[in-house]
Amino acid sequence: MIQRAGNFPLWPARASTTAGNVDALFIFLLILTGMVTLLIFTCLLYFAARYRYRANVPAEQIEGSTPLELTWSVIPLGVFLVIFVWGAVVYFKERTPPRDSTEVYVVAKQWMWKLEHAEGQREINELHVPVGRDVKLIMTSQDVIHSFFVPAFRIKQDVLPGRYTTTWFRATKPGTYHLFCAEYCGTQHSGMIGSIVVLAPAQYETWMSGGSTGPLSATGEKVFAELGCATCHRSDAQGRGPNLQGLFGKPVRLQDGRTVVADENYIRESILDPGAKIVNGYKPVMPTFQGLLSEEQLNALVAYLKSLSATKPGEGNATASTAQGSQVE
Ligand code: CUA
Repeated sequence: MIQRAGNFPLWPARASTTAGNVDALFIFLLILTGMVTLLIFTCLLYFAARYRYRANVPAEQIEGSTPLELTWSVIPLGVFLVIFVWGAVVYFKERTPPRDSTEVYVVAKQWMWKLEHAEGQREINELHVPVGRDVKLIMTSQDVIHSFFVPAFRIKQDVLPGRYTTTWFRATKPGTYHLFCAEYCGTQHSGMIGSIVVLAPAQYETWMSGGSTGPLSATGEKVFAELGCATCHRSDAQGRGPNLQGLFGKPVRLQDGRTVVADENYIRESILDPGAKIVNGYKPVMPTFQGLLSEEQLNALVAYLKSLSATKPGEGNATASTAQGSQVE
C-alpha cells in the first residue's frame, strides 16, 4: 500500500510540488560538501608528501599572504551566500500557504493524529486529499510537542500545545504516503504514525460526499451561539465586544498602540486569554474560555470566524473591529 523504493528507501517518493525544490537544494549541498571534502583530503595528502621532513633541509617560515587569505575568505562567503539565499527561497515557499488553500485542522495528542476537514469530515491517523490542490494544515496539540512529518512531501512542522502552527503542500501523485510524528512525545511516539491518501479529483469528490456532519464553520456557529458570544459580539449593532464580521485576516488596532493581524493564533488567544490583546476602544470585560473548550471546538470557532470574512471577498469592512478606536487616532 505504502509507496516505497524497495525495503530501504534511501530516497522517499517525490509527491509534492515542494519536494523537487528541497531535493535540488539537498543534492547541491551533498555535491558541494563532497567536493570540499575531496579538496581538503587531496591537499592534505599532497602537502604531507611535498613538505615532508627531510634531513638537513631547514623549514621555511611564511608570514602570511594577503591575496591567499582574501581568496579563501571571499570564495566561501560567496558559496555560503548562495546556500543562504537558495535555502531562504525554499523555506519561505514552504512557510507561506497559497491563498484559497483547502484547510484541514490537525489536533495531535498522545498518540494519534485527529484531522478535520473544513467541510466537516473527520479522520484519525489518515488524511484524504485531492491531487493538485493546495492544502493548508492548521495544527495544534492537546498535550506535548509533536511534529507532522510527511517525507514524500518534504514537509515537517512542529505541532505545539497552546497555539497553531501551519504548513501546506500540494500533492502531485495519487498514492498513500507515510505520516510520522517526528518529535519524541512519549512511550508510544514511534506508533504515532498514519498515512496521507492522495486521490484523483473524481475519487476525492466521492470520498468527500460521505461522512460529514456539516461544515466545520457551522459547528463553530453552534458553539458561538451556545456560549452566548453573540450577546457582546453583535453583528447588527454596537456591542460590548468588537464586531467579528469580516475580521479574519485584517489588521486590528490594539489599545497599546500595536497593530496585529487577526489570524488563527490571534483568534485562539483572544478566546483563551482575552486580556492579552485588547482591541482599541474596548474594555477588558471578556471572560476566559480556557479549559472550557476542546481543541475541536476552538478549531470550529476559528473556522466560523473565517467564514464571516469569506462572505465579503476582497476588502469588506476592514476597519469594522477598530471602528470605535478610530476616533482616538
Ligand atoms: Cu507525537 Cu512523537
